[in-house]
Amino acid sequence: MIKQSPSLSSTSPFAIREPGVTHVLVTGGAGYIGSHATLRLLKENYRVTIVDNLSRGNMGAVRVLQNLFPEPGRLQFIYADLGDQTSVNKIFLENKFDAVMHFAAVAYVGESTEDPLKQ
Ligand SMILES: NC(=O)c1ccc[n+]([C@@H]2O[C@H](COP(=O)([O-])OP(=O)(O)OC[C@H]3O[C@@H](n4cnc5c(N)ncnc54)[C@H](O)[C@@H]3O)[C@@H](O)[C@H]2O)c1
Repeated sequence: MIKQSPSLSSTSPFAIREPGVTHVLVTGGAGYIGSHATLRLLKENYRVTIVDNLSRGNMGAVRVLQNLFPEPGRLQFIYADLGDQTSVNKIFLENKFDAVMHFAAVAYVGESTEDPLKQ
């Protein structure tokens, strides 16, 4: 399953490379580390796409970021599960990324030792 911000289309700024603009995919961007990384990237004028399945993340954090940086081509949110290969392929086909920062995780200390393969 994949849902994305309404701005995304074949002509969306996220789908093209623009000179001087670095587009970063932040996985887990609705989470603690990912949302703070996104804030920093946006403050430094990066273009950011967040992909998150909201299993743990907070859509409120994404909304705050969208309100802080409402201009077209700054931030898009894509609701998708990184375990879904079809969704991941579609995301990479429809967007032009320069870098990926991977924070999506099921990584609380307890579960990471009790069930290290949990997805
Ligand atoms: N929080 C810390 O202090 C800390 C310190 C060092 C390293 N880290 C590492 O940073 C990473 C992120 O940690 P965090 O504290 O931000 O965790 P978090 O739970 O707040 O964020 C993880 C995000 O990943 C998303 N997610 C999980 N599985 C997904 C999937 N299959 N598809 C899409 N999205 C998915 C969740 O919805 C959540 O928004 C982890 O690898 C963690 O080990 C965290």
